[in-house]
Amino acid sequence: MVRRIIPVHDLRDAVTLPPSGGARVPASGLLQDRLGRPLRDLRISVTDRCNFRCSYCMPKEVFGKDHAYLPQADLLSFEEITRLASLFVAHGVRKIRLTGGEPLLRKNIERLVERLAALRTVDGEPLDLTLTTNGSLLARKARALKDAGLRRVTVSLDGLDDTVFRSMNDVDFPVASVLEGIAAAKDAGLGPIKVNMVVKRGVNEHEIVPMARHFRGTGIVLRFIEYMDVGASNGWRMDEVLPSAEVVQRIAAQYPLAPLSPCAPGETAERWAYEDGAGEIGVISSVTHAFCRDCNRARLSTEGKVYLCLFASRGHDLRALLRGGAPDEDIASAIGQVWQGREDRYSELRASQPADTPGAPRVEMSYIGG
Ligand code: GTP
Ligand code: 5AD
Ligand code: SF4
Ligand code: SF4
Repeated sequence: MVRRIIPVHDLRDAVTLPPSGGARVPASGLLQDRLGRPLRDLRISVTDRCNFRCSYCMPKEVFGKDHAYLPQADLLSFEEITRLASLFVAHGVRKIRLTGGEPLLRKNIERLVERLAALRTVDGEPLDLTLTTNGSLLARKARALKDAGLRRVTVSLDGLDDTVFRSMNDVDFPVASVLEGIAAAKDAGLGPIKVNMVVKRGVNEHEIVPMARHFRGTGIVLRFIEYMDVGASNGWRMDEVLPSAEVVQRIAAQYPLAPLSPCAPGETAERWAYEDGAGEIGVISSVTHAFCRDCNRARLSTEGKVYLCLFASRGHDLRALLRGGAPDEDIASAIGQVWQGREDRYSELRASQPADTPGAPRVEMSYIGG
């Protein structure tokens, strides 16, 4: 089914906060949603812009020259992001990932990293502070990000063949510059580095084994992501999804693999080790093997709405509370109430429905963060 293209703006209306009724929910670090899932991971989108036009995320036909990005005044400031992040942390968040769009396009992003690096979890530990990037500006920024307190980075790279990669990013960006970015991140000590490759059947599937060969033995963890039906503009079709089980089979045929146990509950990736000791790979199977059961991730959009699922249609407007002068306790309570009411498990539900069931309209991943 090719979905109708829905302008992103139509979906940017928000649920009003705080939710009416219900007891106040102070930050205790013990928050759980309706399915008993804690809140551990906050993904913050710092810009809705990107210098790439990957067809599965920001296709040119939708994100063209006339696309209306958020005006500067609508973006959360670094002060506002840090204040909200500290309230999420007080509710139990331990990992913060900066995303976009392309987060390194946000001016002075290192200043935000500095502020977030100063936060401490409810157990007094530093956060697992990380960032997802397309790598295009990483060679220039890796050192400053590390100095500002960033722990590690994840770089998106969909293949090593320059022609394939230039066509997937659709702005003719060369693989070599992304590899330079990865090398700079490694030199700066931004590890463990992960590389995420979205696999589309018939587009870059022949890059699976070369990518595995390239990153084996480097200490970099390569992860293969099933192409998802996220957003409303990529024209997703099930026949373009290459199931992770097949990715594992293809690699194992050349480099034998053994399953590893998860590092932490709610992880996106299933881990596999090279039997010869050359490190590990991961597969993220949102389509063929949903992992909603332990999903502990919340997303904060560029303009301050919290989304409880990657596939949500509407967010909860925290910026209105911030800019309306609400005290920390009220904002923390609103976050708590929203999480307590959460029962999202989109990928699990979709897996149990016929493939052509029309879904509710959804926001774009470039807007709420990957
Ligand atoms: P690590 O802490 O480094 O393991 O990161 P992560 O796997 O939690 O986050 P990352 O942003 O690297 O996720 C990789 C990809 O998994 C994303 O780009 C998405 O394609 C997918 N993904 C991440 N979170 C979710 C989620 O909550 N639901 C679904 N369906 N897919 C997700
Ligand atoms: N399917 C899977 N992953 C996606 N991403 C963006 N769009 C999709 C999609 N349709 C993820 C990729 C990319 C990150 C920025 O967002 O992992 O590396
Ligand atoms: Fe940009 Fe990443 Fe989306 Fe590609 S996947 S368009 S690099 S935000
Ligand atoms: Fe979490 Fe929604 Fe992804 Fe399921 S589909 S893992 S609930 S974000």
